[in-house]
Amino acid sequence: MAIVAPSLLAANFINLQAECDMLNKSVADWYHLDVMDGRFVPNISFGPMLIDFFRKATTKVCDVHLMIENPENYAEAFSNAGADHLTVHIEACTHLHRNLQQIKSLGMKAGVAINPHTPVSLLNDVLHDIDIVCIMSVNPGFGGQSFIPHSLTKIRDLRQLITDRSLPTLIEVDGGVTLENAAQIVEAGADVLVAGSSVFKSVDPIATIAALSKL
Ligand code: DX5
Ligand code: ZN
Repeated sequence: MAIVAPSLLAANFINLQAECDMLNKSVADWYHLDVMDGRFVPNISFGPMLIDFFRKATTKVCDVHLMIENPENYAEAFSNAGADHLTVHIEACTHLHRNLQQIKSLGMKAGVAINPHTPVSLLNDVLHDIDIVCIMSVNPGFGGQSFIPHSLTKIRDLRQLITDRSLPTLIEVDGGVTLENAAQIVEAGADVLVAGSSVFKSVDPIATIAALSKL
């Protein structure tokens, strides 16, 4: 069974209460919130204020994906907003180990996201400090992009590293996840499927979430 984390980036923002009601009724375990600063990625989305609203409207685990520079300046604000997980990008962190300690000291689970060009091996010396590795299967910044096939090799390699060391680290896969490719992604070793467009643009989002979770 995969953990499903619908990405609200693809939701209808004029009707967020209905989207949250749908999520609450679904079997989704987490919901995924994409924070973009217009610097680390070429897009701007939302910040802690909106997450605070989501937190109050949903009953699921709040998984926050920071696509921002200097995440250490905002970790406390996201903790106060109710984030359960805080994921930072390895490419945005000069002192990743310090970032992870900070996130944990604020009571959140610590995630690290890696861009498509970043090798899994860069995590070697910090893997045991990471609760969730988010393998980006698209270049971050936008929803609705196509899954990069090489991501499957990265998922397999990371699964091997985690198994070899008997770590509890979860593998999350983010970008271009659909009902068509999700089985392959889980088979490669993913625990968590982030799904934006494939859930929110589907005719029956609740059924799509259920189908993804069965994989
Ligand atoms: C991309 C974001 C993703 C995005 C996924 O930068 O990190 O979480 O919302 O959207 P889909 O599932 O549409 O690729
Ligand atoms: Zn994301």
